[in-house]
Amino acid sequence: MTVELELNGRRRTILAEPQESLLDVLRRLGVTSVRRGCDTASCNTCSVLVDDRLVPSCAFPAARAAGHRVTTVEGLPAAILDLARELTAEGAEQCGFCGPALLLSVHAMQQELTRPGADEINHYLAGNLCRCSGYAAQLRAIERYLARGGRSGGQAGGGEAGSSAARESEAGEAP
Ligand code: FES
Ligand code: FES
Repeated sequence: MTVELELNGRRRTILAEPQESLLDVLRRLGVTSVRRGCDTASCNTCSVLVDDRLVPSCAFPAARAAGHRVTTVEGLPAAILDLARELTAEGAEQCGFCGPALLLSVHAMQQELTRPGADEINHYLAGNLCRCSGYAAQLRAIERYLARGGRSGGQAGGGEAGSSAARESEAGEAP
């Protein structure tokens, strides 16, 4: 079947099997910043935005994305790069596997919450599995990013961050 959607600001017509996941389709298209972790909707490393809603792409049929905006980390506003730098400065980027989904999650959180505190951040990001950082360094980086006025705001999907966010958040990680 063919599926017409908008991927990072560009209209695309893609081929997908009826039950194929959005994760499988995106990776087949070469969008390897979308990571396959558990494949059971439990770790959020495969998160993408569909319109402005964060979804686990492993559990989201590609067919359901028809007519919608799909955003991966490459489509986030460039300001999200400030968060990638804070994560690196805090040593929160180790293998980098969870990085792209974390950036997407923080962007989504900023659309929903105004000035979130540590508890709200922890609650919002609770489902994002990171096997390396222990989360404390991630929290410090996010808090500093927000305290410095970090604002990835605006509508995702324009591709302003290009592939830089993916690169900065995946140092040393093989897709
Ligand atoms: S790979 Fe999709 S939630 Fe873990
Ligand atoms: S930095 Fe390795 S999984 Fe998060």
